[in-house]
Amino acid sequence: MFDKESALNSVPSLYLYDHSNAQQDVREEIIQGLSAQQKYISPKFFYDETGSRLFTDITRQPEYYLTRTETRLLKRHAAEIGTLVGKDSLLIEYGSGNSEKIRILLDSLKPGIYAPLDISRDYLAEAALALAQEYPWLEVRATCVDFTTEFDLPFVSRRRHISFFPGSGVGNFNRPEAGEFLARTRRLVGTQGCLLIGVDLKKDDATLNAAYNDARGVTAQFNLNVLAHLNRAYDANFDLSLFAHRAAYNAVKGRVEMHLVSLRPQTVTVCGETYRFRKDESIHTENSYKYDLEEFMSMAVAAGFNRAEYWVDDRSWFSVFLFYSEGEGD
Ligand code: AVI
Repeated sequence: MFDKESALNSVPSLYLYDHSNAQQDVREEIIQGLSAQQKYISPKFFYDETGSRLFTDITRQPEYYLTRTETRLLKRHAAEIGTLVGKDSLLIEYGSGNSEKIRILLDSLKPGIYAPLDISRDYLAEAALALAQEYPWLEVRATCVDFTTEFDLPFVSRRRHISFFPGSGVGNFNRPEAGEFLARTRRLVGTQGCLLIGVDLKKDDATLNAAYNDARGVTAQFNLNVLAHLNRAYDANFDLSLFAHRAAYNAVKGRVEMHLVSLRPQTVTVCGETYRFRKDESIHTENSYKYDLEEFMSMAVAAGFNRAEYWVDDRSWFSVFLFYSEGEGD
């Protein structure tokens, strides 16, 4: 059987840091969301080990064009991106998941250190280990952290900092949060740093609705798994058969909204508190914002980045931006 601990210790170029939040803060966050008038659960609770695997499965569904389109863009422009950012950097990846996309860039970027950040600890450790074994020349410093809030890297490096946030993960923040994220990243990468970021673009409703309602029902399973995660880790007793997945594009707000709808009146206990649901009442589990190129560019400028390159696919469905911060000093 695969022994994770001893395998981790046997790779000298791999470092693991655990900066995940105290259970207490997390419980308060869950209680706050379920006590609101429109109940909500933060999308970060999707990503336990099962959720991370289900998300990887979503990225392989024919309707979920985001990953395929971004992967093609990165492959097509990897050499150019490598020339623009230079070698021997500290490459920080947000929400690294299974570290699949970084493999496209490693050969052209040849970073000195790869620093994946993810909230799903075991999944992160497994992916970091596989990568460190596959690329023996690469130092891998993986941190389990909730990067939706302010955090410091647990190590210091004088290399040029390149942040990489693929997959339109930024779409899961609301617009002000996305602005704050960009400003935090600008501070983290410092003077001469860069941000390489994938951003999903606005498009017709049918394409967007299909992407979040795949025929095999993987997105539905992913959405429902948030309740299973709360059952497993936060003393909840959700009956998954009494909730249904709902996802639809709201063109006015420019976002796909994902909910879990209660199929009948019911009472659920979570973290020792009781919550009542009416029939058809929902828990809002995710927003996935879609942007115009100009809109995203202005947000990055407001966050302190002052130069950009960008690439889009032939249908203008997805974009990859490279933002630079070329300040006088921080
Ligand atoms: C991770 N994130 C960018 C995905 C998205 O498209 O918003 C999560 C997801 N939710 C449903 N399908 C995929």
